[in-house]
Amino acid sequence: MRRHLLTLRALERPQIEALLDAAQAYADDGGRSRPALAGRPVATLFYEPSTRTEMSFELAAARLGAVVLRCDVDHSSVRKGESLVDTARTFEALGAEVLVIRHPASGAPALASRHVEASVINAGDGMHEHPTQGLLDLLTVRQIKGRLEGLRVAIVGDVLHSRVARSAAWGFTKLGARVILTGPATLLPSASPVPGAGMTSSLDEALEGADVVMTLRMQMERQAGGFVPSLAEYARGFGITDAALARARSDAILMHPGPANLGVEVSLDAAYGARSVISRQVENGVFIRMAALEWVVGRMETRRPSTVERHKALDDMAQVAG
Ligand code: NCD
Repeated sequence: MRRHLLTLRALERPQIEALLDAAQAYADDGGRSRPALAGRPVATLFYEPSTRTEMSFELAAARLGAVVLRCDVDHSSVRKGESLVDTARTFEALGAEVLVIRHPASGAPALASRHVEASVINAGDGMHEHPTQGLLDLLTVRQIKGRLEGLRVAIVGDVLHSRVARSAAWGFTKLGARVILTGPATLLPSASPVPGAGMTSSLDEALEGADVVMTLRMQMERQAGGFVPSLAEYARGFGITDAALARARSDAILMHPGPANLGVEVSLDAAYGARSVISRQVENGVFIRMAALEWVVGRMETRRPSTVERHKALDDMAQVAG
């Protein structure tokens, strides 16, 4: 069945788990190629800058054998005023089965999806959602902690403008983790965007007992200004340093979606330190995007047991034997 992937809000827990399991199977295979999209065009339309997301979608598409049609927005007909829908329809006419869209306007990929037969994947829309980022965050934590259920996840920083925070909060909450959103009061929405996710302007409260600390980039391009007195003051209050991490659990891990403003929302020492899983997040982005591309075109392989499940099965067997 052909689908779109626009939000994690709209996905049910079993769908999220199926995507994580498929991605984990790719990770177990070391990202080996599988020709699920052999010769089929996949278009990437990025109306905002990107390094990790765009490159990992390209690599994921290549590993599935697809032909990537990369729309260089600044050198395309978008510069002549072509609308998003017209651009999407043009790529569809070129044969694209999947349109991967990043856009500064919240809801832009959803709008495009209503005007094309192709599958649309939201690669980040304004301040709304970034579902494949949320999925790769879930996969990373599940690999390291062996579970998601019952974990405490602190999401720190510019929550107000962050699509990463929204997708992560939906994903972790749906999979049974407890999410606490924190930042200066000026950078928090008036109410928690995700039912079940807590919100506090006290970093200490958020870090207390946290298994996962996720810092967010200050979204300077989305801030009208005046949200914090200065970046230095923000860093002193909410920047994640080794000292701040020491307030979380002793085995807490540090995440950041990238790109990081080192010295602002996260210190260089913490970002490159032993608790940081930032590179693992990037690595997992490719596996998640392979799974997402297959899922939207209805060609995701039937489930193979994930590493976590295999370990659990082995533990169960050991217990029975013991
Ligand atoms: C994020 C994005 O663009 O939403 N980056 C990413 O996709 N890895 C986070 C950000 O830019 O702050």
